[in-house]
Order: sequence, then structure tokens, then C-alpha cells
Amino acid sequence: MSESGEVERLEALWRDDFGDRYVERNRAAAEHREPFWKWLHEAFPFESVLEVGCNLGGNLHWLAQLVDPTRVVGVDINAQALREVRQTLPDVNAVKASARSLPFRDAQFDLTFTTTVLIHQPPDALPIVMNEVVRTSRRYVLCGEYHADELEEVPYRGERGALFKRDWGALYQHLFPELKLLDKRFEAAQPDGSGWDDVTFWLFEKR
Ligand SMILES: C[S@@+](CC[C@H](N)C(=O)[O-])C[C@H]1O[C@@H](n2cnc3c(N)ncnc32)[C@H](O)[C@@H]1O
Repeated sequence: MSESGEVERLEALWRDDFGDRYVERNRAAAEHREPFWKWLHEAFPFESVLEVGCNLGGNLHWLAQLVDPTRVVGVDINAQALREVRQTLPDVNAVKASARSLPFRDAQFDLTFTTTVLIHQPPDALPIVMNEVVRTSRRYVLCGEYHADELEEVPYRGERGALFKRDWGALYQHLFPELKLLDKRFEAAQPDGSGWDDVTFWLFEKR
């Protein structure tokens, strides 16, 4: 399949039934995430935030308690996920868009971030998606993804080319040398599998 065909195949996967089933399985996504967001907001204050690939709002739930919810925005490609955000977090702005083309101004948000979303992009789409993340941030860029030293494809729910691990922090710094690394941390899954799922976070500041 051509590079653009692969991008469209993966976006269609998340837009349709495969994405709806993810929403059903992840109703408890917010559990155990509060300490992380409280720490981040205290250590690196921000007043507006954009999450790219927010799903049903497992992060937005906490962010809307830390900053004015009207300054919290979530983007996703799955309509069911956005319906749930609008129901549970009515003051948050839930926007349907592709991560490859975010309908926001340059530097519109103090913080723009992804958690386990870059892992699901075809490698060829990454420079575009990561550029959109960096472009829309005024100050902080946060990346929470599955780390591996080398690019590694991981089988994911019977789909090929749908989950990749790599050194996301190194890729950000390679593509955007203006980013300064402020913090790196690992959030392990809870013993029952809830909470963060062995996610590595890189926090950058734009210089
Ligand atoms: C594994 S979920 C992570 C959800 C959320 N960030 C979290 O940590 O709970 C990946 C989300 O990214 C969305 N997504 C995947 N590719 C996307 C794209 N190209 N543009 C917009 N959303 C996308 C999916 O629909 C899904 O909601």
C-alpha cells in the first residue's frame, strides 16, 4: 500500500468500528491518572491545553479540574469518543479532526500533547503529526508513548502496522532541535492493569 494509503487505512480504522470498540473497552481510562496531571500542572503551570487523540476524555477529565475547562480542547477522529467527551465534560471543546491537520492557530495552547497516539500513526505520517503538535503549542509539548530504543512494530488486535514503539523523545529532538527536554518519566501500569500502561513521558519546552 502507498504511504498515503496507509495513513488513510489507519485513520479509517480509528474512525469506524475498531475505534468504537476501543471506546467501549476504555471507560475507566481516567482511573489513577490524577497524580500525574496534578504534578505536571504544579511543576509546569499552564492555562490552556490541547490533547490530540483524546478518545473519551481520560486525560481531559483531570485537566478540566486544573484549568478553566473552556480552555481545554480535545481532538479525535472517532465520533463516538467525542460524543462521550461532550456528555461528561460539557465545557470542554471536543473537536473532530485528523492529527495531521489541526484546526488551530500557531501557538494557541500553552501545552499540546499526545498520550498513546503517536504509537498508532504510520511512521511516514509522524513528521506531519508531530509538527502539528509543536506548531499549536506556545510553550510545552508533552509526549506520553510506549518507548523502545529501536523502532519496533507490536502486534495489535489483529491489525498490521497499527502499533509501533520507538524512542519518541529522540525523534522529537531530531525533527525539532528547538525543543528543550525538561523532564522524562516512566508511569508503570497498576498491578490490575489500570492507569497508565507503562507509558514513558517526555516534556519539552519550545525555545
Ligand atoms: C490509544 S487511544 C489514546 C486515547 C487517550 N489519549 C488516552 O491516553 O486515553 C488513541 C486515540 O487516538 C485517536 N487517533 C488515532 N489516530 C488519529 C489521528 N490520525 N487523528 C486523530 N485522532 C486519532 C483514536 O481515535 C483514539 O481515540
